[in-house]
Amino acid sequence: MSSPREVRVRGLPAWLPRQPLLGPGSWRRGEEEPRVEMASLSLEEAADLATQLRGLHLDGQAVEVEVRPPLPRNLVREARLLDARRRRETTPGFLRSGVQLDEEGRYSLTPENLALKLGKQAEGRTVVDLGAGAGGNSIGFARAGCRVVAVEQDAARLAMARHNARCYGVDAQIRFVHGDGIVLLPTLKADLLFLDPPWGRAYNKEQMGLEELPLLKAALAWRANFGAIWAKVPASFDSHETPEARVEAVFGLAEGDRRRIKFLCLRWEAKAGEDSR
Ligand SMILES: C[S@@+](CC[C@H](N)C(=O)[O-])C[C@H]1O[C@@H](n2cnc3c(N)ncnc32)[C@H](O)[C@@H]1O
Repeated sequence: MSSPREVRVRGLPAWLPRQPLLGPGSWRRGEEEPRVEMASLSLEEAADLATQLRGLHLDGQAVEVEVRPPLPRNLVREARLLDARRRRETTPGFLRSGVQLDEEGRYSLTPENLALKLGKQAEGRTVVDLGAGAGGNSIGFARAGCRVVAVEQDAARLAMARHNARCYGVDAQIRFVHGDGIVLLPTLKADLLFLDPPWGRAYNKEQMGLEELPLLKAALAWRANFGAIWAKVPASFDSHETPEARVEAVFGLAEGDRRRIKFLCLRWEAKAGEDSR
Protein backbone atom coordinates (compact mmCIF):
# COMPACT_ATOMS: atom_id res chain seq x y z
CA MET A 1 0.00 0.00 0.00
CA SER A 2 1.31 3.49 -0.84
CA SER A 3 2.20 5.80 2.01
CA PRO A 4 -0.35 8.45 3.06
CA ARG A 5 0.24 12.11 2.31
CA GLU A 6 0.28 15.06 4.67
CA VAL A 7 -2.05 17.64 3.17
CA ARG A 8 -2.28 21.29 4.15
CA VAL A 9 -4.92 23.65 2.82
CA ARG A 10 -4.51 27.39 3.20
CA GLY A 11 -6.74 30.31 2.31
CA LEU A 12 -10.17 29.16 3.50
CA PRO A 13 -12.25 32.04 4.90
CA ALA A 14 -13.85 31.74 8.33
CA TRP A 15 -17.41 31.73 6.86
CA LEU A 16 -16.81 28.57 4.83
CA PRO A 17 -17.92 25.20 6.27
CA ARG A 18 -14.91 22.90 5.87
CA GLN A 19 -16.52 19.51 5.45
CA PRO A 20 -18.26 19.81 2.08
CA LEU A 21 -15.18 21.30 0.46
CA LEU A 22 -12.47 19.21 2.07
CA GLY A 23 -14.40 15.95 2.12
CA PRO A 24 -13.64 12.97 4.33
CA GLY A 25 -10.55 12.82 6.51
CA SER A 26 -9.70 13.87 10.05
CA TRP A 27 -9.02 17.52 9.48
CA ARG A 28 -7.36 19.55 12.20
CA ARG A 29 -6.42 23.22 12.50
CA GLY A 30 -2.73 24.13 12.51
CA GLU A 31 -1.52 25.28 15.91
CA GLU A 32 1.29 27.46 14.65
CA GLU A 33 -0.66 28.57 11.59
CA PRO A 34 -4.30 28.80 12.73
CA ARG A 35 -5.68 29.30 9.21
CA VAL A 36 -4.25 26.09 7.85
CA GLU A 37 -6.29 22.86 7.72
CA MET A 38 -4.27 19.66 7.93
CA ALA A 39 -5.01 15.98 7.38
CA SER A 40 -3.32 12.76 6.53
CA LEU A 41 -4.94 11.36 3.34
CA SER A 42 -4.42 8.39 1.08
CA LEU A 43 -2.56 9.10 -2.14
CA GLU A 44 -5.82 8.98 -4.14
CA GLU A 45 -7.72 11.22 -1.71
CA ALA A 46 -4.89 13.76 -1.73
CA ALA A 47 -4.77 13.78 -5.56
CA ASP A 48 -8.56 14.15 -5.71
CA LEU A 49 -8.59 17.04 -3.26
CA ALA A 50 -5.76 18.86 -5.04
CA THR A 51 -7.74 18.47 -8.28
CA GLN A 52 -11.01 19.68 -6.77
CA LEU A 53 -9.45 22.78 -5.27
CA ARG A 54 -7.32 23.66 -8.29
CA GLY A 55 -7.84 27.31 -9.31
CA LEU A 56 -10.27 28.05 -6.47
CA HIS A 57 -10.06 31.61 -5.17
CA LEU A 58 -12.08 32.80 -2.19
CA ASP A 59 -12.26 36.36 -0.95
CA GLY A 60 -9.60 37.41 -3.44
CA GLN A 61 -7.11 34.81 -2.26
CA ALA A 62 -6.00 31.56 -3.89
CA VAL A 63 -6.81 28.40 -1.94
CA GLU A 64 -3.49 26.55 -1.72
CA VAL A 65 -3.06 22.83 -1.33
CA GLU A 66 0.30 21.53 -0.23
CA VAL A 67 0.92 17.78 -0.40
CA ARG A 68 3.95 16.15 1.22
CA PRO A 69 5.68 14.20 -0.17
CA PRO A 70 4.53 15.56 -3.57
CA LEU A 71 2.13 13.52 -5.70
CA PRO A 72 3.43 11.51 -8.65
CA ARG A 73 2.50 13.17 -11.96
CA ASN A 74 0.66 10.19 -13.35
CA LEU A 75 -1.63 10.15 -10.33
CA VAL A 76 -2.39 13.85 -10.73
CA ARG A 77 -3.28 13.23 -14.38
CA GLU A 78 -5.52 10.32 -13.42
CA ALA A 79 -7.28 12.36 -10.75
CA ARG A 80 -7.99 15.12 -13.29
CA LEU A 81 -9.44 12.67 -15.78
CA LEU A 82 -11.60 11.11 -13.11
CA ASP A 83 -12.79 14.54 -12.03
CA ALA A 84 -13.64 15.55 -15.61
CA ARG A 85 -15.69 12.35 -15.96
CA ARG A 86 -17.42 12.90 -12.63
CA ARG A 87 -18.30 16.47 -13.60
CA ARG A 88 -20.63 15.18 -16.30
CA GLU A 89 -23.12 14.56 -13.54
CA THR A 90 -23.92 17.94 -12.06
CA THR A 91 -27.03 19.32 -10.37
CA PRO A 92 -29.63 19.68 -13.14
CA GLY A 93 -31.32 22.92 -14.22
CA PHE A 94 -35.04 22.52 -14.90
CA LEU A 95 -36.25 18.97 -14.40
CA ARG A 96 -39.60 19.30 -16.19
CA SER A 97 -39.92 18.75 -19.90
CA GLY A 98 -41.23 21.44 -22.23
CA VAL A 99 -39.26 24.32 -20.69
CA GLN A 100 -37.68 26.97 -22.93
CA LEU A 101 -34.16 28.34 -22.58
CA ASP A 102 -31.87 30.45 -24.72
CA GLU A 103 -28.09 30.22 -24.36
CA GLU A 104 -27.78 32.78 -21.56
CA GLY A 105 -30.87 31.43 -19.83
CA ARG A 106 -29.34 27.95 -19.83
CA TYR A 107 -25.88 28.73 -18.52
CA SER A 108 -27.09 31.19 -15.91
CA LEU A 109 -29.99 29.04 -14.69
CA THR A 110 -29.97 28.23 -10.97
CA PRO A 111 -30.34 24.43 -10.68
CA GLU A 112 -33.93 23.59 -9.84
CA ASN A 113 -33.32 21.97 -6.47
CA LEU A 114 -31.04 24.78 -5.32
CA ALA A 115 -33.63 27.38 -6.40
CA LEU A 116 -36.26 25.46 -4.45
CA LYS A 117 -34.02 25.36 -1.39
CA LEU A 118 -33.67 29.16 -1.54
CA GLY A 119 -37.43 29.40 -2.05
CA LYS A 120 -38.11 27.40 1.12
CA GLN A 121 -35.74 29.63 3.06
CA ALA A 122 -37.80 32.64 1.94
CA GLU A 123 -40.80 31.18 3.82
CA GLY A 124 -43.66 32.74 1.86
CA ARG A 125 -42.26 36.26 1.74
CA THR A 126 -43.07 38.61 -1.14
CA VAL A 127 -40.09 38.57 -3.48
CA VAL A 128 -38.75 40.78 -6.25
CA ASP A 129 -36.46 38.73 -8.50
CA LEU A 130 -34.36 41.37 -10.23
CA GLY A 131 -32.89 39.99 -13.45
CA ALA A 132 -35.10 36.92 -13.49
CA GLY A 133 -33.64 35.33 -16.64
CA ALA A 134 -35.60 32.29 -17.79
CA GLY A 135 -37.21 32.06 -14.37
CA GLY A 136 -35.15 29.52 -12.40
CA ASN A 137 -35.30 31.41 -9.12
CA SER A 138 -38.73 33.02 -9.59
CA ILE A 139 -40.19 29.55 -10.06
CA GLY A 140 -38.29 28.23 -7.03
CA PHE A 141 -39.71 31.01 -4.85
CA ALA A 142 -43.23 30.60 -6.25
CA ARG A 143 -43.19 26.84 -5.72
CA ALA A 144 -42.30 27.50 -2.09
CA GLY A 145 -45.39 29.69 -1.71
CA CYS A 146 -43.92 33.16 -2.28
CA ARG A 147 -45.57 35.82 -4.41
CA VAL A 148 -43.00 37.03 -6.89
CA VAL A 149 -42.37 40.00 -9.16
CA ALA A 150 -39.95 38.86 -11.89
CA VAL A 151 -38.12 41.75 -13.56
CA GLU A 152 -36.14 41.09 -16.72
CA GLN A 153 -34.79 43.45 -19.36
CA ASP A 154 -34.68 40.86 -22.16
CA ALA A 155 -38.26 40.51 -23.46
CA ALA A 156 -37.69 37.11 -25.11
CA ARG A 157 -36.17 35.65 -21.95
CA LEU A 158 -38.99 37.07 -19.85
CA ALA A 159 -41.46 35.32 -22.17
CA MET A 160 -39.51 32.09 -21.54
CA ALA A 161 -39.75 32.67 -17.79
CA ARG A 162 -43.53 33.03 -18.12
CA HIS A 163 -43.75 29.89 -20.24
CA ASN A 164 -41.55 27.96 -17.79
CA ALA A 165 -43.62 29.12 -14.82
CA ARG A 166 -46.67 27.77 -16.63
CA CYS A 167 -44.89 24.39 -17.00
CA TYR A 168 -44.55 24.36 -13.21
CA GLY A 169 -48.10 25.61 -12.61
CA VAL A 170 -46.98 28.73 -10.74
CA ASP A 171 -47.44 31.48 -13.37
CA ALA A 172 -50.39 32.95 -11.44
CA GLN A 173 -48.10 33.64 -8.47
CA ILE A 174 -45.60 35.62 -10.53
CA ARG A 175 -46.00 39.09 -12.02
CA PHE A 176 -43.71 39.40 -15.02
CA VAL A 177 -42.27 42.86 -15.60
CA HIS A 178 -40.27 43.79 -18.66
CA GLY A 179 -37.79 46.56 -17.93
CA ASP A 180 -34.43 47.72 -16.68
CA GLY A 181 -34.12 46.78 -13.04
CA ILE A 182 -31.83 49.71 -12.30
CA VAL A 183 -34.46 52.16 -13.56
CA LEU A 184 -37.31 50.32 -11.83
CA LEU A 185 -35.59 49.87 -8.45
CA PRO A 186 -36.97 53.07 -6.86
CA THR A 187 -40.53 51.85 -7.58
CA LEU A 188 -40.07 48.35 -6.11
CA LYS A 189 -40.79 47.21 -2.57
CA ALA A 190 -40.96 43.68 -1.12
CA ASP A 191 -40.07 41.56 1.87
CA LEU A 192 -37.15 40.19 -0.10
CA LEU A 193 -35.15 41.46 -3.05
CA PHE A 194 -33.42 38.55 -4.76
CA LEU A 195 -30.78 39.15 -7.40
CA ASP A 196 -28.81 36.84 -9.57
CA PRO A 197 -26.87 39.49 -11.46
CA PRO A 198 -25.13 38.42 -14.68
CA TRP A 199 -21.57 37.36 -13.92
CA GLY A 200 -20.51 37.42 -17.57
CA ARG A 201 -19.82 34.13 -19.34
CA ALA A 202 -16.05 34.53 -18.96
CA TYR A 203 -16.31 35.93 -15.45
CA ASN A 204 -13.22 36.41 -13.33
CA LYS A 205 -12.71 33.26 -11.29
CA GLU A 206 -10.01 34.87 -9.16
CA GLN A 207 -11.70 38.00 -7.90
CA MET A 208 -15.04 39.68 -8.42
CA GLY A 209 -16.50 42.67 -6.65
CA LEU A 210 -19.36 45.15 -6.79
CA GLU A 211 -17.84 47.00 -9.76
CA GLU A 212 -18.30 43.85 -11.88
CA LEU A 213 -21.90 43.40 -10.68
CA PRO A 214 -23.56 46.80 -11.33
CA LEU A 215 -27.09 45.45 -10.76
CA LEU A 216 -26.14 44.41 -7.22
CA LYS A 217 -24.35 47.68 -6.58
CA ALA A 218 -27.43 49.63 -7.68
CA ALA A 219 -29.74 47.44 -5.57
CA LEU A 220 -27.79 48.07 -2.38
CA ALA A 221 -28.55 51.78 -2.68
CA TRP A 222 -32.28 50.86 -2.31
CA ARG A 223 -31.87 48.58 0.65
CA ALA A 224 -34.39 50.53 2.71
CA ASN A 225 -37.18 49.42 0.33
CA PHE A 226 -36.72 45.75 1.16
CA GLY A 227 -36.90 43.65 4.29
CA ALA A 228 -33.91 41.69 3.07
CA ILE A 229 -31.63 41.40 0.07
CA TRP A 230 -30.17 38.10 -1.12
CA ALA A 231 -27.68 37.96 -3.96
CA LYS A 232 -26.28 35.00 -5.85
CA VAL A 233 -22.65 35.75 -6.65
CA PRO A 234 -19.69 33.69 -7.86
CA ALA A 235 -17.36 31.89 -5.45
CA SER A 236 -14.66 34.39 -6.42
CA PHE A 237 -16.68 37.32 -5.03
CA ASP A 238 -14.63 39.19 -2.44
CA SER A 239 -16.95 39.39 0.57
CA HIS A 240 -14.71 41.99 2.21
CA GLU A 241 -16.57 44.41 -0.09
CA THR A 242 -19.88 43.62 1.61
CA PRO A 243 -19.02 43.31 5.32
CA GLU A 244 -22.67 43.63 6.41
CA ALA A 245 -23.80 40.59 4.45
CA ARG A 246 -23.82 37.04 5.76
CA VAL A 247 -22.08 34.72 3.32
CA GLU A 248 -23.27 31.21 2.56
CA ALA A 249 -21.48 28.85 0.18
CA VAL A 250 -24.01 26.79 -1.79
CA PHE A 251 -22.71 23.41 -2.94
CA GLY A 252 -24.04 21.18 -5.70
CA LEU A 253 -26.20 18.15 -4.95
CA ALA A 254 -24.95 15.68 -7.58
CA GLU A 255 -21.89 13.45 -7.64
CA GLY A 256 -19.99 15.81 -9.95
CA ASP A 257 -20.51 19.03 -7.97
CA ARG A 258 -21.26 17.98 -4.39
CA ARG A 259 -17.87 19.32 -3.34
CA ARG A 260 -17.98 22.42 -5.51
CA ILE A 261 -19.20 25.85 -4.56
CA LYS A 262 -21.88 26.55 -7.17
CA PHE A 263 -22.37 30.09 -5.90
CA LEU A 264 -22.33 32.23 -2.79
CA CYS A 265 -25.54 33.62 -1.38
CA LEU A 266 -24.96 37.01 0.25
CA ARG A 267 -27.70 37.99 2.67
CA TRP A 268 -28.58 41.33 4.13
CA GLU A 269 -31.37 40.65 6.60
CA ALA A 270 -33.31 43.29 8.54
CA LYS A 271 -32.09 43.68 12.10
CA ALA A 272 -34.48 42.62 14.87
CA GLY A 273 -37.19 45.23 15.44
CA GLU A 274 -36.43 46.97 12.16
CA ASP A 275 -39.21 47.16 9.60
CA SER A 276 -37.92 48.77 6.47
CA ARG A 277 -41.20 48.60 4.53
C1 LIG B 1 -27.87 35.28 -14.19
S1 LIG B 1 -29.28 35.63 -15.10
C2 LIG B 1 -30.58 35.16 -14.01
C3 LIG B 1 -30.83 33.69 -13.99
C4 LIG B 1 -31.99 33.28 -13.09
N1 LIG B 1 -31.70 33.53 -11.71
C5 LIG B 1 -32.36 31.82 -13.27
O1 LIG B 1 -32.03 31.02 -12.41
O2 LIG B 1 -32.97 31.51 -14.30
C6 LIG B 1 -29.32 37.37 -15.03
C7 LIG B 1 -30.41 38.03 -15.84
O3 LIG B 1 -30.42 39.41 -15.48
C8 LIG B 1 -30.85 40.14 -16.61
N2 LIG B 1 -30.44 41.55 -16.38
C9 LIG B 1 -29.21 42.07 -16.41
N3 LIG B 1 -29.24 43.38 -16.13
C10 LIG B 1 -30.54 43.69 -15.92
C11 LIG B 1 -31.21 44.89 -15.62
N4 LIG B 1 -30.55 46.03 -15.44
N5 LIG B 1 -32.54 44.85 -15.48
C12 LIG B 1 -33.24 43.68 -15.64
N6 LIG B 1 -32.65 42.52 -15.95
C13 LIG B 1 -31.32 42.52 -16.08
C14 LIG B 1 -30.15 39.46 -17.77
O4 LIG B 1 -30.82 39.74 -18.97
C15 LIG B 1 -30.23 37.99 -17.34
O5 LIG B 1 -31.33 37.35 -17.94
